[in-house]
Amino acid sequence: MSEPARDPSLPPAGLALRHLRRDISEMQGYTPGEQVRDCIKLNTNESAWAPSPRTREVLRQVADDQLRLYPDPLFKQLRAAASSRYGVAPEQVLAGNGSDDCLTIIYRAFLTPGERVAAPWPTYGLYDTLATLQGVDIAHVDYRIEAKQWHLPRHLSKQGAKVVLVANPNNPSATLTPIEQLRQLAYEIDGILVVDEAYIDFAPEGSSMLPHLASHPNVIVLRTFSKSYSLAGARLGLLFAHPELVNHLMKVKDSYNVNALTQALGVAALEDHDHHRALVQDTLRERTRLEGELATFGWTWPASAANFLLCEVGDKAGAIYTALKDRGVLVRWWDRPLLSSKLRITVGRPDQTELLLKHLKDLV
Ligand SMILES: Cc1ncc(COP(=O)(O)O)c(C=O)c1O
Repeated sequence: MSEPARDPSLPPAGLALRHLRRDISEMQGYTPGEQVRDCIKLNTNESAWAPSPRTREVLRQVADDQLRLYPDPLFKQLRAAASSRYGVAPEQVLAGNGSDDCLTIIYRAFLTPGERVAAPWPTYGLYDTLATLQGVDIAHVDYRIEAKQWHLPRHLSKQGAKVVLVANPNNPSATLTPIEQLRQLAYEIDGILVVDEAYIDFAPEGSSMLPHLASHPNVIVLRTFSKSYSLAGARLGLLFAHPELVNHLMKVKDSYNVNALTQALGVAALEDHDHHRALVQDTLRERTRLEGELATFGWTWPASAANFLLCEVGDKAGAIYTALKDRGVLVRWWDRPLLSSKLRITVGRPDQTELLLKHLKDLV
């Protein structure tokens, strides 16, 4: 994150800074995508469509008690709703303040400083930040990229890692690892496999690890409401695991880590199957249209199983990112090896796609 401007009327922090943990003082910090309003926002993979109307109803009916009292620390209604939606036992579910919170809980519960996590690379940047915060080493094992497809690296299981993290579909590539390969990985490792399914609702049916949880007690599956449920602002994620693991993870979370409104919003969203299905279908339809249009620029991308595309743009990727931003269209670009020639573009609504294309036609 960028440093806050220093108020000149305050004395310098000097001496106080000496007390910071050295690793914290030296670390970069996670850089979230820019959160700017009043622009065409295609940079952080939120849904472009509105959440279920039932969530509006929840907000209209907020009761004083929901604000006055602490929320249910065991999120019983949410667990029940998740249980019937996903066909797992309520005891297999833990909720978090976004799936980022679930990831933090996992790191804190399983890893002591000096131990190791592993992840195929490039992937979701927060896995690195959490490793630094927890004082653990992270092994990046490059994806095998062949004919534009991204394959899980063979040596991922051989890193001596206690926790292996695979985002499936992966961010930023949007690529999908077949379920049989993940199950094989779960058998091979002597540790925990975290399958982060933030984008799984946009993938073909049968891609989720969730139905296989019972055969893999060392697997944890994560889901989020930030993408296909269109509730990024509410911050809600779910963790699915063996009930005994969940019991221990419950001890690690903040007591009231999911606020009362968010719990109620989650229940409403989970119960509105029709809206969720429509939202996913709208996104997939628009993804297909966007792909057709972007292909006319000669751009390519690995097959997407998510609500975004990682486009190979070439040397001008950074310049196009900046020019789009100047015109009020935000996409994601990283000035990093492997990614600097690419733009990650979230699927927007049809009107947003039109504006993106209009500007790209000027720029490319
Ligand atoms: C792979 C992956 N996992 C987790 C998250 C975070 O989700 P949440 O908003 O639930 O914290 C993201 C957000 O972009 C993501 O890409």
